[in-house]
Amino acid sequence: MADNPYKLVNEQEGLSETLGVVSGTQGPHAVDVRKLYRDTGVLTYDPGFMSTASCESRITYIDGEAGILEYRGYPIEQLAEQSTYLEVAYLLLYGDLPNRTQLQKFEQLIVYHTMLNETLKNFYDGFHHDAHPMAIMVGVVGSLSAFYHDSLDINDPKHREISAHRLFAKMPTIAAASYKHNISEPIIYPRNELSYCANFLHMMFSTPCEPYEVNPIAEKAINLLFILHADHEQNASTSTVRLAGSSQANPFACIAAGIASLWGPAHGGANEAVLDMLTEIGDVSHIDKYIAKAKDKKDKFRLMGFGHRVYKNFDPRAGILREVCKEVLEKLADNDSPLFELALRLEEIALNDDYFIQRKLYPNVDFYSGIIYRALGIPNNMFTVMFAIGRTIGWVAHWMEMMNDPEQKIGRPRQIYKGSPRREYIPIDKR
Ligand code: SDX
Repeated sequence: MADNPYKLVNEQEGLSETLGVVSGTQGPHAVDVRKLYRDTGVLTYDPGFMSTASCESRITYIDGEAGILEYRGYPIEQLAEQSTYLEVAYLLLYGDLPNRTQLQKFEQLIVYHTMLNETLKNFYDGFHHDAHPMAIMVGVVGSLSAFYHDSLDINDPKHREISAHRLFAKMPTIAAASYKHNISEPIIYPRNELSYCANFLHMMFSTPCEPYEVNPIAEKAINLLFILHADHEQNASTSTVRLAGSSQANPFACIAAGIASLWGPAHGGANEAVLDMLTEIGDVSHIDKYIAKAKDKKDKFRLMGFGHRVYKNFDPRAGILREVCKEVLEKLADNDSPLFELALRLEEIALNDDYFIQRKLYPNVDFYSGIIYRALGIPNNMFTVMFAIGRTIGWVAHWMEMMNDPEQKIGRPRQIYKGSPRREYIPIDKR
């Protein structure tokens, strides 16, 4: 039962310890082990945190068995269908859906933070022209604390809020500038009359030489992609942001740490890896060979975009993205449909293969997103940057929640030491 205490018994030594329970409004409850080491000298062991709740949170709820994802209690399917990314950002940050006036004020406030400090642009010239845009993102976002020291007192709620708004507002500008650096085109300034998503497309694809019209289909797709990527509970990059923030580091440094963690192919880097994988597979006739590689323990190859630590039936975002894929390809880029056909066939074969069924491996959010980005003209090396833009509001919301949590303290896990027992130093001539 959720509130009944647990008893930890060491039968050999006849010891027992009663442990309380921490319960949430929904989802699994937790055995409270906060005093376990102090009272028993025994640690818990959980590499990868398979069975560990690191905090209490009110932001996002996931039920991996039922394929449920809710932001502040609202189902992702309804937000994807009816909301906008700026409205979802307000919801994640402030806890409730805004009324019309609150939303307009928030949109206006964000617009006025989209520009970068002009000298920050020199930073880009320091990167090799073909630096990976994620490398540029980590560097530039980490450098923001060198430009915005007027809002770095993290104990001041006003400073925390303005830093949160600056980070959320500037990510598209920083990201688009990383792309422009990559293609040696001039960095494009944001335009205040454009929506958040239209502004991003404008900064990515317009040039000073001719007018640029944002395609509403592309704007709608970006809006949906950012909603689906906005938050996901205590995933690796969000946990990185929380751990960095627990030492009282400034929010710009914490978000830069989150970007670095997201870059890994086991996490947000998977969307780029999926496109590389589909391109390598090349044709439906090669699928069986790659399914066999994915199942072969001696082969490092994994089916990228498949599997999830929490979702064990389906990732609700993958289903929504599969439909968006169809729509965007039909309207914008049917020349990419062979890749989409290949992805659909790969999904169908994998989902009927015992190896994947037994291990509950299903397509995750990264399986289809890259195909959509490509159809929008966004290059593979920008896919994880897209994930970072969408996820920034989630990282910032968790950082804010942690900073307001009276229970928060510096995160400092212990270890099981397996190294050498004590030994005496040996002078070099005697080794
Ligand atoms: C994201 O946490 C989040 O919420 C993340 C995210 C978010 O929104 O923030 O949802 C975004 O990161 C999605 C995941 C993107 N990554 C990938 O698509 C990379 C490929 N998938 C995997 O590497 C893996 O599935 C993980 C990392 C996603 C999950 O890893 P787990 O939970 O640690 O599972 P595991 O590695 O222990 O695998 C369990 C079994 C193993 O086989 P056995 O040892 O039991 O025989 O499943 C196998 C694995 O070998 N397996 C795979 C596989 N994923 C797991 N085999 C082949 N292909 C795969 N993709």
